[in-house]
Amino acid sequence: MATGKYAHLLKPLKMAERPGQEQIFKNTGNADVNRWLNGRDHLEGVELNFSWGFYTGLGDWHPGMDPHVHPYPECLVFVGLDPHRPEYLGAKIQYCLGKELEIHTFDRPSVVVAPAGFWHCPSVTLDVTSPIGYSFFIISLGADPTTRWLGDGITDEQIARMQAQSTEGGLKPPMISSFGKKRVHVSEETVSHGDVNARFIKPLAPNSLGTRTLADGDREQYGEMAAPERRPGPGMTKNAVWMFGRDLEGMKLNFCWGIQTDPGAWMRGPGHGAHVHPTDEVLMFAGTDPADIDSLGAEIQIDLGPEHERHVIDRPTAVVCPAGLAHGPIVTRWLDRPFAFLLMSLGANHETTYVD
Ligand SMILES: [Fe+2]
Ligand SMILES: [Fe+2]
Repeated sequence: MATGKYAHLLKPLKMAERPGQEQIFKNTGNADVNRWLNGRDHLEGVELNFSWGFYTGLGDWHPGMDPHVHPYPECLVFVGLDPHRPEYLGAKIQYCLGKELEIHTFDRPSVVVAPAGFWHCPSVTLDVTSPIGYSFFIISLGADPTTRWLGDGITDEQIARMQAQSTEGGLKPPMISSFGKKRVHVSEETVSHGDVNARFIKPLAPNSLGTRTLADGDREQYGEMAAPERRPGPGMTKNAVWMFGRDLEGMKLNFCWGIQTDPGAWMRGPGHGAHVHPTDEVLMFAGTDPADIDSLGAEIQIDLGPEHERHVIDRPTAVVCPAGLAHGPIVTRWLDRPFAFLLMSLGANHETTYVD
């Protein structure tokens, strides 16, 4: 158990495991295993819920239940697990978007952007070509996971079971579900094949600080992190993808995804390397072994607070960095296998100010 003034900001992903309870969704196409943390129960009230999981199965993720909507926007991010092939997903996904029930397919790492109230899903895994499957994460801008299901294939029994789950043991449910009065039927006859909603699916291509010289328009997205005297260290992968609000239909979110392969400092520059943001940020460190979601396979240190209180991460963990709290530097001390890193920052730009 970590100790210190800021130890409570380190959240093992395992805290979202619900022993003895079924995964919220357990269908063939859905996660073999996942962890889903939310602001309300796990993340200090941050207006965010996010998931991380491993996938190998084919089929519909929530049969009969979709499309669905949320009161907040979300990103649905499909990524591969080969750190050296960042543009390989290893799966083929079919996704239905908008009131047009527009069908799209993709087989590259991609983010689907669903604004608040925007109909999305069914999500169907058509094929899995990677022998270890692929990964998927949700980034949703609400502390309380909330969904309204609009599909007409959901049975009364399922509705009763989901509502029972909502009241079990006096605990708040992991997902607050409601059901549309008017239900939507998804079939060959009702779907469309246009591209009115094509822009809501964006390919992920490596573009982050580790890769390239930033153009002026990109530089301002990063704040002082892109200052000329700062540069990536050996701990930062060159294959990371950074998406900003401008890339995500104006969402108040920027996220960075990458699989880290090397030890060392993540950033180099003058001073001690602590910085702040005007918005909340959550940093997730997770393993890439689909056989063991609770293993990280690396040891990473992060400093929290202006005192540089040093913490060591040796299991899959989310670190909550509330707005204004100094954090960094980050150093990968060692790794036995590549690990996944996901930064979720609740502003359209990654406004960064170094404090020491
Ligand atoms: Fe959704
Ligand atoms: Fe940060």
